[in-house]
Amino acid sequence: MGKLRSIITGSGSYLPPNIVTNAELAKKVDTTDEWIVARTGIKERRIADEGVLTSDLATFAAQNALKNAGVDASEIDLIVLATATPNRTFPATATTVQANLGITTGCAFDVQAVCSGFLYALTVADNMLQCGNFKKALVIGAETFSRIIDWKDRSTCVLFADGAGAVVVEASEGEGTIADRGILYSHLRSDGRYEDKLYVDAGPSQGGDGYLKMQGKEVFRHAVSKIGSAIEQALEDNGLTGEDIDWFVPHQANKRILDAMARKFSLDTSKVVETVHKHANTSAASIPLALHEAVGDGRIKKGDLVLIEALGGGFTWGSMLFRW
Ligand code: UT7
Repeated sequence: MGKLRSIITGSGSYLPPNIVTNAELAKKVDTTDEWIVARTGIKERRIADEGVLTSDLATFAAQNALKNAGVDASEIDLIVLATATPNRTFPATATTVQANLGITTGCAFDVQAVCSGFLYALTVADNMLQCGNFKKALVIGAETFSRIIDWKDRSTCVLFADGAGAVVVEASEGEGTIADRGILYSHLRSDGRYEDKLYVDAGPSQGGDGYLKMQGKEVFRHAVSKIGSAIEQALEDNGLTGEDIDWFVPHQANKRILDAMARKFSLDTSKVVETVHKHANTSAASIPLALHEAVGDGRIKKGDLVLIEALGGGFTWGSMLFRW
C-alpha cells in the first residue's frame, strides 16, 4: 500500500435548544451583559437540559456529520471523542456513542485535552488512518461544561457552555501536496507545570466531583502567547503567511483572543470564523461547532486552506492546517 492521507469529508454539530442570555445570568450572579460582552464577546450560550448527557450531544453531532459526508455508520471503524465532561469516569463516552450509532466493529475511545481536545483527537485519528489500520473515522468534540461549573462563581459561570461538533475523516491513497485536500499539518504541545491555572478541583482519584477553577487573567496571557507561537510554527513549517489562510477557525474562548491572533498574523477579520458570541466556550466542541457553521453556510468551500488552534487546561495547546 502507498502512502495514506486523511481527508475530512463531512462535518456536523448539535446544540441543545435551551438558550441562556447574559441578562438571565445577571439575575443569578453579580454580573452585567455589558461586562460579559466587553470582556469576552459572549452574548448567549446553550445549556443542556437536566438528564441530557455528553454522549447524547455527541451522537446527534455524529449523525449530522455522517449524513453530510454521505457515509453510513456501519462504515465507521474508528471513533475518537474529545471531552473533559464524559458521561461517567468510565467507560469512554465514545463507546456509548458507538453503541448509539449501532456500530459493533472497529474501536472507540476518548481523548482528554480539555479545550485542545478536538485538535488532539483529530491528530490521533489522522495518525491512525495514515497507519493503514483504519479507514473511516468519526472525530467528535462534545461537552456538558454546565455540569462542572460553579453557578455561583461569576468569574467562570458566564464563560462556558454545552454543545458538540463532529467530522468524518477518511483515509485516502496518495501522498498529496499542500495543494491537495486533507490534513496537512499538526503541532501539539502541553506543559503540565500550569495545571493550577485551569482545572477541576476534584476527580475520581481525589474523590468528589469538583468545579472548574480558573485564573482567568493568567490563562488569557498564556493563551495569547502560546497560541501565537503555535500559529507561527504552523505558518513557518509550511512556508505560509497569514495571507495564505482561507479560513481561521480558532477555539472560541474569548473574542479578544481571536482578535489579537487575527491582528498578529494579518488575517482579514472576514476570514475569522467566530461563534463565541452565541456558543460561549464549549471547550472541545468549540472548533468543530464553528467549523460546521462555516461549512454549512457555504463560507468554507472544497479546497480552502483552514487553520485551527486551541489552548486548554494543562496547559495543552496547538495548531493544525487542513485543506477542506
Ligand atoms: O478555553 C480555555 C482557555 N480559556 C481562556 O482563554 C479564558 C481566558 N481568560 C479570559 O477570557 C479573561 O481573563 C476573563 C474573561 C476570564 C476575565 O477577563 P479579565 O479582563 O481578565 O477580567 P479579570 O479577571 O481581571 O477581572 C476584572 C474585574 C474583577 O474585578 P476587580 O478585581 O477589578 O474589582 C473581577 O472580579 O471583573 C470582575 N469580574 C466580573 N465582573 C462582572 C469577573 N467576572 C465578572 C463577571 N461580571 N462575570
